[in-house]
Amino acid sequence: MKKLLFQFDTDTHPSVFDTVVAYDGGADHVIGHANLSPENIRSLVEGTIFTRPPKAKKNTAIFVGGSDMEAGQALFEAVQSYFFPGFQVSVMLDSNGSNTTAAAAVAKLASSGSLKGKKAVVLAGTGPVGQRAAVMLAQEGAEVCITSRKLEKAKQACTNMEKRFGVQLTPIEARNIDDRAAAVNDAQIILATGAAGVELLKAEHWENNSQLEMIADANATPPLGIGGTDMMDKGLERHGKIIWGAIGFGTLKLALHRACIEKLFEDNKQVFDAELIFKLAKEMA
Ligand SMILES: NC(=O)c1ccc[n+]([C@@H]2O[C@H](COP(=O)([O-])OP(=O)(O)OC[C@H]3O[C@@H](n4cnc5c(N)ncnc54)[C@H](OP(=O)(O)O)[C@@H]3O)[C@@H](O)[C@H]2O)c1
Repeated sequence: MKKLLFQFDTDTHPSVFDTVVAYDGGADHVIGHANLSPENIRSLVEGTIFTRPPKAKKNTAIFVGGSDMEAGQALFEAVQSYFFPGFQVSVMLDSNGSNTTAAAAVAKLASSGSLKGKKAVVLAGTGPVGQRAAVMLAQEGAEVCITSRKLEKAKQACTNMEKRFGVQLTPIEARNIDDRAAAVNDAQIILATGAAGVELLKAEHWENNSQLEMIADANATPPLGIGGTDMMDKGLERHGKIIWGAIGFGTLKLALHRACIEKLFEDNKQVFDAELIFKLAKEMA
């Protein structure tokens, strides 16, 4: 029986990246649907749960994606609200690679040294990747701050993550590069999760910081998020700090994403969100 992955996306086009990784992760066929929301999802979910006999339901799975974390989270919950005993399929949430990218970055940082009790600043942490990475850092025992150019946006991200995961995050307004430099002054860990091609810090803002132990940067589009690093850095030491570049940990991100897709088809009850994805990342790191 063919393994079917239904890609339910909150954007106007289902993510091509997610489609490619879905095939590479073992799906035989990937069917993308766009512009989805809790209001228009019901019949699609019913199509996945009512069509195959109990033992064959594991061959149908749902992947929720899109660029908006909140919309993805709402869609993911709505999908599961239509499941009932005996009638469900495995599901995964990874809006903009949020869970897999965050999990890979934090797992690689954790593999470089303990994060417990350390101050971690997630620069531009209001996007899908930053929000989930902040949660995972907090779950590893770090004291985590999220910066945004707007305080309200940082507060909103912290509130959303507290509601969903019960973690305490601290919002910081950092309107420009000088504010961001000040925000990382007493940090031991910096994780940059800014939009592609946006430089958040220059080399001079971290090279001589004696408190700082580790840096990870998710942005692989030049200019990189953190000046003075290289996207290929794989736990490399620069100026006494351990650096993980976007491709340096991105290999794990892709392997993890593929592994999650493969696992979706192992049975029909898997729920891959931050918790399970991070657990798997730490096993793979
Ligand atoms: N390495 C990998 O394997 C991998 C995989 C997936 C994604 N990525 C990368 O991960 C990064 C984060 O992804 P995402 O989807 O979470 O990002 P995003 O939503 O596009 O952007 C994250 C945040 O960047 C800030 N930002 C946008 N323009 C800015 C500017 N001109 N100056 C300063 N800050 C700015 C915004 O924060 P405020 O408005 O709150 O300031 C925004 O919320 C991206 O660079 C993406 O390409 C990497």
